[in-house]
Amino acid sequence: MTDDTRDHDTQESPFRTSLLEEAEGEGSNPTVNPTMGELISIRFSRRGLLKGSLAVSAIASTVGPLALLSAEKANAASTTTGNGSAFIFVEVEAGVDQTHHVAEGYDAEVLLRWGDPLFADSPAFDPKSQSADAQRRQFGYNNDYVGFIPLDGSAEHGLLVVNHEYTNEHLMFPGIVSVAEGKLKVAPADQKRVDIEMAAHGGTIVEIRKVDGKWQVVREGKLNRRITSTTPMQLSGPVAGHDRLKTKDDPTGTQVIGTLNNCAGGVTPWGTYVMAEENFHGYFLGKLPEGHREAANYKRYGVPEATYEWGNFYDRFDLSKEPNEPNRFGWIVEVDVNDPNAAPKKRTALGRFKHEGAESIVAKDGRVVFYLGDDERFDYVYKFVTAGRFDPNNRTANLDLLDSGTLYVAKFDADGALNWLPLTFGEGPLTAANGFASQADVLIETRRAADLLGATKMDRPEDIQPNGVNGKVYVMLTNNTRRKDDQVDAANPRAKNAFGHIIELTEAEGDFAATKGTWEVLLKCGDPSVAAVGASFSTDTTRNGWFGMPDNCAVDSAGRLWVATDGNNPKETGRTDGLWAVDVEGGARATSKLFFRVPVGAEMCGPLFTPDDRTAFVAVQHPGDGGTDWAPFGRPSYYEDLSTRWPDFKDDMPVRPAVVVITKKDGGKIGA
Ligand code: FEO
Ligand code: CA
Ligand code: CA
Repeated sequence: MTDDTRDHDTQESPFRTSLLEEAEGEGSNPTVNPTMGELISIRFSRRGLLKGSLAVSAIASTVGPLALLSAEKANAASTTTGNGSAFIFVEVEAGVDQTHHVAEGYDAEVLLRWGDPLFADSPAFDPKSQSADAQRRQFGYNNDYVGFIPLDGSAEHGLLVVNHEYTNEHLMFPGIVSVAEGKLKVAPADQKRVDIEMAAHGGTIVEIRKVDGKWQVVREGKLNRRITSTTPMQLSGPVAGHDRLKTKDDPTGTQVIGTLNNCAGGVTPWGTYVMAEENFHGYFLGKLPEGHREAANYKRYGVPEATYEWGNFYDRFDLSKEPNEPNRFGWIVEVDVNDPNAAPKKRTALGRFKHEGAESIVAKDGRVVFYLGDDERFDYVYKFVTAGRFDPNNRTANLDLLDSGTLYVAKFDADGALNWLPLTFGEGPLTAANGFASQADVLIETRRAADLLGATKMDRPEDIQPNGVNGKVYVMLTNNTRRKDDQVDAANPRAKNAFGHIIELTEAEGDFAATKGTWEVLLKCGDPSVAAVGASFSTDTTRNGWFGMPDNCAVDSAGRLWVATDGNNPKETGRTDGLWAVDVEGGARATSKLFFRVPVGAEMCGPLFTPDDRTAFVAVQHPGDGGTDWAPFGRPSYYEDLSTRWPDFKDDMPVRPAVVVITKKDGGKIGA
């Protein structure tokens, strides 16, 4: 693939990843909300940028003298706190190969891979003889969000909750891939394959325990559970029962089968697991009946995109047969992990969009605040504030907190002011004059409501993490190469933003429930040695330490920020995705260091720290993806001749999507 045809944030191949990532970023926001203030003229041609990046990756020693100088400085400082860094570890060298790498002094071991048994009676993984029944008792595919819910208050015994975002058929099923005209083609699906795909989606809840310093899966765990695209669920909150959600199978508009594309998520203060439904548009095919009322609504969400073939076998995914079904997806789903038989609830009060995650924090007055990203080019940052208050002594009383509250969308002013605009029916433009008859309409068409309020169009909002230690909030904006020069604004300061940036929010008076605050750019990502990129890492950041495409993130109990990336193309950046530690305080602010990197073809998800900070869980998604794109590791299928291609291949490498456990060899806290 030539450098001028390849986009940093898309992979132009027939693979599932690429289709969804492309869709994720396509941008379907047609509104002309004004862009604001402070035009920063970082203008570079796509071609020029790629040449610069390639030059750096091809010959590592050609990084600029400033970067080399700072590399030495930071390496010297990385084992001390001399530069004020909150992190103490010797960083990993950025690069690319077929396995993962963690900082010296740490162990990184696979805990769970796609297909691993989760129950005492689960069948062993047999890649050549898969079935939906087996998959429903095994760990699902493409782990993304990872959460930990302690049992008995322990940091060494709890429930691991993991989202399984989507499936990569070309990596999952033997014999379905062929090569034509230099491109890989995946054979059409039959129903058996579709059923396995549906069973590989969703989530896993599984008991884990640390025994003699090693984490183990407890297959006998009574709370172990798989959630899939066929698990019965309930709709709750203001949209439940609305006509626009009624279908032939569900004339009540309150019962849904399954959840789709669960990307990031969260664990609530009351110990439930929340799953964000992201790219739900990819699961629908067919045409709406002529003149159907949902046509404009679906267009704004990119429905149908027909990435998957499920609609050929199940009418509910075919718009011509079940036109309301897409309104039943794109929600935040809450799962009560204490009851493996409880129907998960789609909490409609939190709005309908391509939900990236749902991390939360308790505000001063006890209301609970959820930060929500809508991952598409030019879409928005949201937060939800519960109407009720969290009661730490009464779990049951908290269980329906997510059914009532206020959803806000963010407006980032050029002077650094942040305004949270309420999406409340009857207020401002959210009235019958604009086609909203109720709060349910506002929530079903959250994006259009936010358009009308004049929210700020962002560069693909991914994970958003409140930090209870320093009171700030961190917003990952992964990239947006479609932003034009005249669309640049203060909060999205780069045209053709190939590498993304991170914004830090400060809520007014330290109150996470506030409707006003301030914001600033923490850092602009990309290679700082290529001036045209306009990256803004601190000069203590080494050539290993910079990253692009921030996606998932975590804040550990010390309040330190960790950022996982999705989309580093080794050909262009000389590095795979990974987990970087990012200082946010003092003189070290905006210094970043590489802690862990994934195998070629993978993206980095998770990450999650146990409450004692002695374990980090990271999720390695679609390792080995990319087909023939990255010789010599390219592989059109998981099954094709691995031993020949990789003489040192070992089955314990995370070449299946896997959750990896990172611990310090001396048992201490991570990065400390
Ligand atoms: Fe599933 Fe926006 O990442
Ligand atoms: Ca993500
Ligand atoms: Ca991702």
